[in-house]
Amino acid sequence: MKIDEILTTLTLEERVSLLFGKGMWEIAGVRDLPNVTMVDGPHGVRKPIDINTTGIFEGNNVATAFPILGALASTWNVDLAYQVGETLANECHHYDVHVLLAPGINIKRTPLGGRNFEYLSEDPILAGEMASAYINGLQENGIGTSLKHYAANNSEFERMTISSEVDERTLREIYLTAFEIVVKKANPWLVMTSYNKVNGYRSEENPLLMNQILRNEWKYNGVTISDWGAVTNRLKALQSTLDIEMPGPSLSRQTQLVEQIRNGEVDEVMVDASVKRILELVEKAIEGKQFAKDAYDFDQHHLVAKQVALEGTVLLKNDNYVLPIKKENTESVLVIGKHAIKPRIGGKGGSAMVTPYSLDIPLEKMKEIACDNMTIHYVDGYDDFDPSQNEMNQQEAIALAKQVDKVIIFVGIPEELEEAEGFDKEVTELPESQINLILSVVQEQPDTAVVLSNGTPLTMTGWVDQVPALVEGWFAGQAGGSAIADILFGLANPSGKLSETFPEHMSHNPAHLTYPGDNGKVYYHEGVFVGYRYYDKKNINPLFPFGHGLSYTEFTYDSIQVNKEAINDNETIEVTVTVRNSGTVTGMEVVQLYVRDHESSVIRPLKELKKFEKVHLQSGEEKQITFTLANRDFAFYDVTSQRWIVETGLFDVLVGRSVADIRLSTTIHVESTEIKKPVFTRNSLTKEWLRDENGRKIIMDFFTQLSDELNIKDEYTLSFIKECPIPAVISLFGQKWMDTNDADVALDQLIAQVNHANETSEGGL
Ligand code: BGC
Repeated sequence: MKIDEILTTLTLEERVSLLFGKGMWEIAGVRDLPNVTMVDGPHGVRKPIDINTTGIFEGNNVATAFPILGALASTWNVDLAYQVGETLANECHHYDVHVLLAPGINIKRTPLGGRNFEYLSEDPILAGEMASAYINGLQENGIGTSLKHYAANNSEFERMTISSEVDERTLREIYLTAFEIVVKKANPWLVMTSYNKVNGYRSEENPLLMNQILRNEWKYNGVTISDWGAVTNRLKALQSTLDIEMPGPSLSRQTQLVEQIRNGEVDEVMVDASVKRILELVEKAIEGKQFAKDAYDFDQHHLVAKQVALEGTVLLKNDNYVLPIKKENTESVLVIGKHAIKPRIGGKGGSAMVTPYSLDIPLEKMKEIACDNMTIHYVDGYDDFDPSQNEMNQQEAIALAKQVDKVIIFVGIPEELEEAEGFDKEVTELPESQINLILSVVQEQPDTAVVLSNGTPLTMTGWVDQVPALVEGWFAGQAGGSAIADILFGLANPSGKLSETFPEHMSHNPAHLTYPGDNGKVYYHEGVFVGYRYYDKKNINPLFPFGHGLSYTEFTYDSIQVNKEAINDNETIEVTVTVRNSGTVTGMEVVQLYVRDHESSVIRPLKELKKFEKVHLQSGEEKQITFTLANRDFAFYDVTSQRWIVETGLFDVLVGRSVADIRLSTTIHVESTEIKKPVFTRNSLTKEWLRDENGRKIIMDFFTQLSDELNIKDEYTLSFIKECPIPAVISLFGQKWMDTNDADVALDQLIAQVNHANETSEGGL
């Protein structure tokens, strides 16, 4: 395709028409340019049966329904995320789709976020790495992706108008980092803006997010696209480099935009830049079709979905080795709960809904494994919506529970209570009927495991301590039934780790005081202390910490080594750890590396995840894993200088099984190569003068002249004045000196002297 030639031949009206959708699911389609078809993900290819439909959620083709992204993130397996992308690419080719509108990588700020199940994690590194692999899997197989929702789209409350009020350091370190990683590592064909505003600006009109950060700093040259129905001012959005408004064609807006361009309200150069990016996308979409095959093996896709369900399942508790069910000593098992016969595969509604092409039922799969060796009974046990049935259901369950060797209770958020796009969750507890059932069954039969089915963290007040074994099964997609059966019987060893913290109470969550916001704004006052960063710093024990997940085997962390003990911030350092499977069965472990800064001029979390790797280990096997750390792993975003900086000092490197279970640690020294020269003003504090080499000399000389009362050898006086600016020190300790000196003149001289000294010397922090 000769893009520059096409561009010059298109009329202004034609170019403008490219800036709008062609209906709900297509773009381009001008003159000889083909339509580019885009449909929703992230959990499957949601291709409408009628592509020209005008309804956003109307009838879809069947497709492989993968576990929710929260479960994919809980695998911590980037290779598997790539494989999911590859498999989705196959299905996109099968349905003649060019772009999958996925993945969503917004940070899970509160467990109440209605779309959390569609997002990956509370941690930007985990979200960014997993999403990059998923996107590479699709794009390297000829299918584009649309990374969404840029940015700070962390709840559904008043989702199209609310403004997320976030300070810049928090925005950069928490809410933008995942996007930055993905843009740099996977270069998605499109980026979709969010519905919400950020600091008062609509996302698609946000000069900081769009022009400055995405385009200038990250050098993103792909297509930006609005969320469906988000655009309120097409001109402003274009000025912020939003390429496509969806859906379209919005003919009156096109006419208006043409007029505005002719009136010079926006430079035609901006239009051509957008059109060029769109033409490049069309070219990629055409070329991508060379990856299409003649036939696809949907059964093999099912197995990929199963692998995600297997590796994403998190064994939260397993006291007394209740799990796995052992055929040799178990004659009968009682399965309780409708989730075992009617599993939930995804959120209830919205763009992430998938119509599965097949469905594994947990109870059936358990019976297949048990074969003739074991009897598997089943009862409903509870009815969430008809309390009149509960007494009877419960009695029946208890009676049987007493007679069997083991009980497995399937519980979860009922479909009617919804986890869906469009609104937030109201409950995080299981329905009362389920809790009552669990408590009464466990009392009669201690050999009981509970399997959870939910999209986002549950609180488990009043029952979790009573239950010896607990499995987080998530909404596990169409193959979840066979995955959970394999795990319960030990045919597979659980290796999932939580990709978000499960708080003990919702009131412990860092967003609790400001969620959901009011008067059109939600303040992110907790700053960078999101998820585990908060619980860690506050010393609050969550119900289950970030990164937690048990196995049927044991892992031992034997040693940690670094290839250097000190580096400067331009160098990298290699950290090697040895991990051993010291148990009796094969398993997989997620080795997690966190960094802690000993001392910083800004308030930092106690631990920040920087690297992770999933390793497969046979019983007795050990492996060495090497992580490479570089500048950014030690840096924070400095709002004054508007860049990422590393401060000289010690950093702990902590390696473990979860954020709360650190097994190995070492300390290294990182030297900053930048000499940050402070600029002194009248507001500079005594401690800042003392910290600076030139400042210290100048201010100490001055203090000796100032007065006898100022005895800085006295510890109390020193501590007192450290927090004061110099004018206050003069006023409190230098009244006599003031009788013969002009304080303003003296101050200006001191300031000029130190700033000059710092400009001309190597001195500095
Ligand atoms: C959602 C997007 C989705 C789009 C198209 C919007 O409501 O926020 O995630 O891709 O609809 O279905």
